[in-house]
Amino acid sequence: MKIKNSKFVKSLVYLKDKPDIKLPEIACVGRSNVGKSSLINSLLNRKKLVQVSKSPGKTKLINYFEINKNFYIVDLPGYGFAKVSHSEKNLWKKMIENYLLKSSDLKLVLTLTDVRHGPQKSDLALIEWLEHKKIPFYVIATKTDKLSKTKLQNNLNKFYRKHQIIKNRFLPYSSVTKQGREELLQIIGEVLSVHLLPDE
Ligand code: GTP
Ligand code: MG
Repeated sequence: MKIKNSKFVKSLVYLKDKPDIKLPEIACVGRSNVGKSSLINSLLNRKKLVQVSKSPGKTKLINYFEINKNFYIVDLPGYGFAKVSHSEKNLWKKMIENYLLKSSDLKLVLTLTDVRHGPQKSDLALIEWLEHKKIPFYVIATKTDKLSKTKLQNNLNKFYRKHQIIKNRFLPYSSVTKQGREELLQIIGEVLSVHLLPDE
């Protein structure tokens, strides 16, 4: 699949405010600071379409981006960010869960996990939850450029050993070197080809 054009459409909290035009949706979820917004920018070859920040918790709303006029990428707020209040955390959790369970146009969830930290409990919980709810997902191990070759391979092996369910649904990715970008475009293209008439 080729990216021909991309634009920001809107931000929302409640699904009733979704864009009027219905299109298949690909959503990015993961802990705060894992690199969701950076992945979207790198995938779309846009430097600043999505705001990226050094301080976690940058994305606070559900953001819709329209790609090639035929699907949406949805950037969700990060979960597990320690510095926000308990009530704010609950609001985010509800917002994300509600979106994942109720967005009927959702075709694939990209579950991002920072490859440097190895498999995390909260990521496994999310993967198991998605599996249980029968929501299609792919696990993306981000920031591969930050590790040496040996350390990267060690950490990737840990993921394979720990998360049996992700075997064929796991992709190492770097927004800096663009490792994994072509593969991810292909994965998205395949998912969409089931839901769209081919136009390219
Ligand atoms: P929230 O919006 O807070 O949930 O964070 P996010 O998951 O959208 O993360 P974001 O894309 O804002 O990136 C967080 C930080 O990690 C920024 O400083 C990015 O520049 C950096 N970053 C993201 N992806 C990569 C990557 O692949 N490689 C490197 N080296 N840095 C990255
Ligand atoms: Mg973000």
